[in-house]
Amino acid sequence: MDATITLTVNGRRATVTTDPQRPLLDVLREDLQLTGTKYGCGEGRCGACTVLLDGQRRHSCTLPVGQADGKTILTIEGLATDEALHPVQEAFLAEGAFQCGYCTPGMVMTAAALLKEKPDPTEAEIVAWMDGNLCRCGGYPRIVKAVRRAAASAKGAQP
Ligand code: FES
Ligand code: FES
Repeated sequence: MDATITLTVNGRRATVTTDPQRPLLDVLREDLQLTGTKYGCGEGRCGACTVLLDGQRRHSCTLPVGQADGKTILTIEGLATDEALHPVQEAFLAEGAFQCGYCTPGMVMTAAALLKEKPDPTEAEIVAWMDGNLCRCGGYPRIVKAVRRAAASAKGAQP
């Protein structure tokens, strides 16, 4: 049976009436037209669908939208401000940390969550944190470099 669910997505309230078991990812992409968040495996194994739910990274492909009712969601579309890209976005551009770009929204959201929790991670911590995000293009060295650059720039230091 459908339910009415209220989400705050990228600072805007959205109300959807839908099956509460539908994946949040489908609601974001199909109902709210926020297609930056990607479908990869659909079973919580690749990280392409990562969003922040009340500030915590979550796989939106396996999260029933009913569990997001009343919560705050940040997707890749909401990461930049009107004035500037997020430091992780800037760093991915500066390091060329993507090829096809399919994994990139999930990578960026995961890295943003890391820097929020741990602003100055070691390389080993970056690798461990990003471990659940897969890149078919094998861009891992540049991705790690980009996360290091973002951490350094947030501190005002050279990467
Ligand atoms: S699509 Fe969600 S983890 Fe792969
Ligand atoms: S850049 Fe292609 S999957 Fe990561």
